[in-house]
Amino acid sequence: MGFWRRCRNLSADNRVVRSIVADSAPMPGGAQRRIRYRNFFLLLHPRRVRRDSLRPRATFGLGVACIALFLLLVVTGILLMFYYSPGTDPARGAYASMEELRHGVAFGQFIRNMHRWAAHLLVVAAFLHLARVFLTGAFKPPRQFNWVIGVLLLVVTLAESFTGYLLPWDQLSYWAIEVGGSMMAAVPGVGPALRRMVFGGEEISQTALIRYYGLHVLILPAVFTVLTCIHLWRVRQNGGLAHSIENDDASPQMPLPTVPAWPHLVLREAAVALACLVIVVAMAVAFDAPLGEPADPAHAPEPAKAAWYFLWLQEIVSYDYGALARVHWPPWDPGGPTLGAEFWGGVALPSVCLAVLLALPYVRQRRRGVGVYFGRTRRVACVVFVLVALTILALTLVGYFLRGPNWVLVWPW
Ligand code: HEM
Repeated sequence: MGFWRRCRNLSADNRVVRSIVADSAPMPGGAQRRIRYRNFFLLLHPRRVRRDSLRPRATFGLGVACIALFLLLVVTGILLMFYYSPGTDPARGAYASMEELRHGVAFGQFIRNMHRWAAHLLVVAAFLHLARVFLTGAFKPPRQFNWVIGVLLLVVTLAESFTGYLLPWDQLSYWAIEVGGSMMAAVPGVGPALRRMVFGGEEISQTALIRYYGLHVLILPAVFTVLTCIHLWRVRQNGGLAHSIENDDASPQMPLPTVPAWPHLVLREAAVALACLVIVVAMAVAFDAPLGEPADPAHAPEPAKAAWYFLWLQEIVSYDYGALARVHWPPWDPGGPTLGAEFWGGVALPSVCLAVLLALPYVRQRRRGVGVYFGRTRRVACVVFVLVALTILALTLVGYFLRGPNWVLVWPW
């Protein structure tokens, strides 16, 4: 069956959902399609949307905020590219570009600040969006595929932030990437080769900087754009946002009231985008993006910390794993290297988290508690999710504020 026909042939699930939220006055198929192709807006949105999906608490605008922040990153990133030079030479390279942006370019530091804070906010918004989707059970059928696309988007967002971290080529960025590299090297068997492949050698050098630059400005944004298009297309194909009428046990209801997407939905989206812009500009005015001493591979700062969104993993790596840390690889070779804390905290745990996230919507396919925060039938799952999220947050705060030289606990004041 052709691709386009398959796209049109929605699953039975989707047809049920679409019949519930269908436009109140459908047009003949041909006319509707012609209008849609001539009108870009109708490619992005249906003509009408459910009124209750416009309430702020339905999404908190988090998905739209992710898109707005990504667009801001693209615009500010292109401006930065005019001045940035991906070289390790202290006089003309990346570090010198940062200095030039700060002292020699009108609004240079401001644009850099905007780029930096928008990137941090995108990571926060993506996590909160994931939390909203989980707590409303919106990952359940028929949205399981879109959840997987969302998880991939989160991975790309983190990779985009991580590759950008190296670009200023200061002590902060260099050693944060080095921490990531040592976790990579802990993958049993292939770790050192993987690290060499990602950095283009044993050291983080000019080759690594060029690779990270290419990934950061070209490959990852392109992947993000494609995944976002598929994500939005699936939201439409799944009949809009998840709603409690989709629950297995929901009794048949009358079609829910709808309103035209223009202006009701579009103006709300514009308001969210504007709010993101205002917050990023305010942060850029109030706080400068940090720039430490130029990168010095010979002298590690004490302590060398990972980027803040990976600090919870660095914190976990610092704990004592007892017998687990003495397991050999391969297990039958007592003379082989031990797996160590870096493997358990830096490789095994993130891999398990990713696998759990990807498998989640396929494990229990029953549609219960959909479209409701902390739905009665999903309360335990939601409480477990919140506890895990709070633990990650606590570990991040400890790593950020309370870790001093040699990773010992210190008071922040
Ligand atoms: C980081 C980039 C992301 C972007 C730009 C994005 C964008 C969006 C947008 C615009 C929507 C429509 C509703 C809304 O605003 O909430 C949406 C819905 C959705 N997103 Fe995302 N998203 C991202 C990440 C994620 C992640 C990390 C997940 C979960 C792993 C996810 C899963 C979903 C699902 C399942 C829906 C449908 C929700 C429903 O029907 O209630 N998305 N996304």
